[in-house]
Amino acid sequence: MADQSSRAGERYASAQILEYAARTHHPEDRALARAFEAPARHGMPEIQLGPAEGRLLGLLLRLSQARKVVEIGTLAGYSACWIARALPPGGHLWTIESNPKHAGVAAEVIGEAGFGDRVTIIRDDAVAVLSKLNDSGPFCAVFLDADKGRYDLYGRWALENLRLGGLLIADNAYLFGRLLGDSDEAKAMRRFHEEMALHFDSVCVPTPDGLAVGVKMTPAA
Ligand SMILES: C[S@@+](CC[C@H](N)C(=O)[O-])C[C@H]1O[C@@H](n2cnc3c(N)ncnc32)[C@H](O)[C@@H]1O
Repeated sequence: MADQSSRAGERYASAQILEYAARTHHPEDRALARAFEAPARHGMPEIQLGPAEGRLLGLLLRLSQARKVVEIGTLAGYSACWIARALPPGGHLWTIESNPKHAGVAAEVIGEAGFGDRVTIIRDDAVAVLSKLNDSGPFCAVFLDADKGRYDLYGRWALENLRLGGLLIADNAYLFGRLLGDSDEAKAMRRFHEEMALHFDSVCVPTPDGLAVGVKMTPAA
């Protein structure tokens, strides 16, 4: 059930409700908890997914039986651990991170969690490096979580390199509340939404900053 207030954006979750739901539905194992704490331990920005979003990402990948996944924006490897955990045997994640310190911490965290064999960290700018991944595709899923002003480019790459039925998932799709603004970043994010809607069966899930999720329905032109 929804009502007018919740449709208009009002949230009923208090900190206590969020804490209860997290404790009940997604207690994290030790490796994931360590991965979540890694940015704070290493003096990095604490801008990783929340635990519920991490679990949702893993569930979506498992539901779609994703084997080959690309992530843009590794940070310390928290979301990468959720993705790697959802992969079937033989599955692989390529995760792209341009900050050398972040990539180094992520390598340590992902190795400690036991996922080193199924994750390749690409230490480069996503725009520069994405085309080098084309030959490893088609991919089953692409997760965008970096460099919001270029989501339109990343969305086009995903359209060209996902299999039909593949998943495109993008965090911060409300652009921290600036989605409807006049900045180049906002315009790029709106292009991303509009192009995604043309080729994907898609929805923007109203998480605190919007999580766009779509299944590729039409081949790239
Ligand atoms: C929001 S964080 C990623 C969080 C991570 N997905 C998680 O949930 O654990 C964004 C990361 O993307 C990196 N980044 C920013 N611009 C990038 C680019 N153009 N190419 C690759 N990585 C980039 C940043 O250094 C940062 O570590």
